[in-house]
Amino acid sequence: MPLNKCQIIELPRINDPRGNLTFVEGGHHIPFDIRRVYYLYDVPEGANRGGHAHKALHQLIIPISGSFDIHLDDGHSKKTVHMNHSYNGLYICPMIWREIDSFTSGAVCMVLASEHYDELDYYRDYGQFMSDAQRMVI
Ligand code: TYD
Repeated sequence: MPLNKCQIIELPRINDPRGNLTFVEGGHHIPFDIRRVYYLYDVPEGANRGGHAHKALHQLIIPISGSFDIHLDDGHSKKTVHMNHSYNGLYICPMIWREIDSFTSGAVCMVLASEHYDELDYYRDYGQFMSDAQRMVI
């Protein structure tokens, strides 16, 4: 099941009394090379992000600051992951519908992505996503 591949990846941590440091190397700590980084910030209370799936994109979502919930759906089953440690990233493989909500004030959600932005890689219609996801052999 695609959903089983979506797991928390614990990133390296260099603990230091001056402040901690975490790093990510594409293809080493995560199963793809990084071609794009984007981040969500100044998210108003009660707002939802996501609401789409990708056909081929691989992503790692890191709560750089604060916390939020990620709801995942592969067309067969669903799970919710609470993200609240900046040394943990959630790996999301292709063909996963995701919604992100419950952002705390000041939360920053950073996303590492395997490809440049391409609107053609998106499913923005849940019905279309479900139809294709349920036809896939698992
Ligand atoms: P979208 O992916 O829908 O954001 P979210 O996942 O938070 O719901 O993108 C919102 C808008 O930003 C949309 O018009 C596309 C644009 N965008 C880019 O131009 N480049 C990017 O890398 C991303 C992620 C989005």
